[in-house]
Amino acid sequence: MNMTNILVEQDGAIVTVTINRPKALNALNKETLEEMHHSFSALGKDRSVQAVIVTGSGEKAFVAGADISYMQSLDAAAGKVFGELGHKVMATVENLPQPVIAAINGFALGGGCELALACDIRLASVNAKFGQPEVNLGVIPGFGGTQRLPRLVGKGLANEILFGGGMIDAEEACRIGLVNRVVPQDTLLDECRILASKICSRGPLAIRLCKEAVNNGMEMDLKRACAYEKDLFALCFASEDQKEGMAAFLEKRTPNFQNK
Ligand code: CAA
Repeated sequence: MNMTNILVEQDGAIVTVTINRPKALNALNKETLEEMHHSFSALGKDRSVQAVIVTGSGEKAFVAGADISYMQSLDAAAGKVFGELGHKVMATVENLPQPVIAAINGFALGGGCELALACDIRLASVNAKFGQPEVNLGVIPGFGGTQRLPRLVGKGLANEILFGGGMIDAEEACRIGLVNRVVPQDTLLDECRILASKICSRGPLAIRLCKEAVNNGMEMDLKRACAYEKDLFALCFASEDQKEGMAAFLEKRTPNFQNK
């Protein structure tokens, strides 16, 4: 696929995906979403990739939302198709076997906030701004915002953001648990790479199963979720990584994980 709206760069086991439409503040149009779906699907199958960072091009925006000029003329049927594409992309990001870190470098609005919500971990630069301004445009969030935001920050705070249509700054986003931490803009990507490198040094199979346990388990009641965790825990003992990790600890050396 010809990529004109996103950049995909690999450095060792870490891949950085940059939404690259700075003139439109990285707004997500159909082509961008299709490129994202294609790229994330390929990354999920690539065993050389152990962590992914998602960010926006330029210093102003992570992603300022779904593309309003594209959406303006859509009818209900076309709106449904666009919403389905957006949901497909967010689900691909959320269910990627590898951890995905959002490096939120500016406006994360509408579909941009929804993209951040689909990631596993969110770090923001001090200038980042968050919001679900869809109600100002006469629509509701269409890429998962009404569902993932209340699950992350709680219903009351989410409703204020969803119904109010305003923006909150990075510090407020951190206070309510929408982002893990706030860092200076010029160190945001380095901080994300340090975190990604730390994750890459751990047992890759264990990281994948951890992500599965958290994501799938949170959709279950506690009893079923704990039973699910027990099964995944047992599965670890069929792996070479478990043998290596425990042997390395007892031999007081660094483990050499093989992702097997
Ligand atoms: N779609 C299309 N173009 C966008 C855009 C978007 N979501 N956000 C910004 N742009 C474009 C602007 O139209 C402008 O283009 P031109 O230079 O050609 O006029 C360019 O990016 C720069 O934007 P501004 O001049 O507006 O920059 P600013 O600094 O004055 O304001 C902003 C920044 C507050 C982010 C403002 O651009 C803005 O409010 N953007 C829209 C945010 C929004 O409503 N997002 C939600 C979209 S709906 C959605 O996402 C639905 C969903 O859930 C799927």
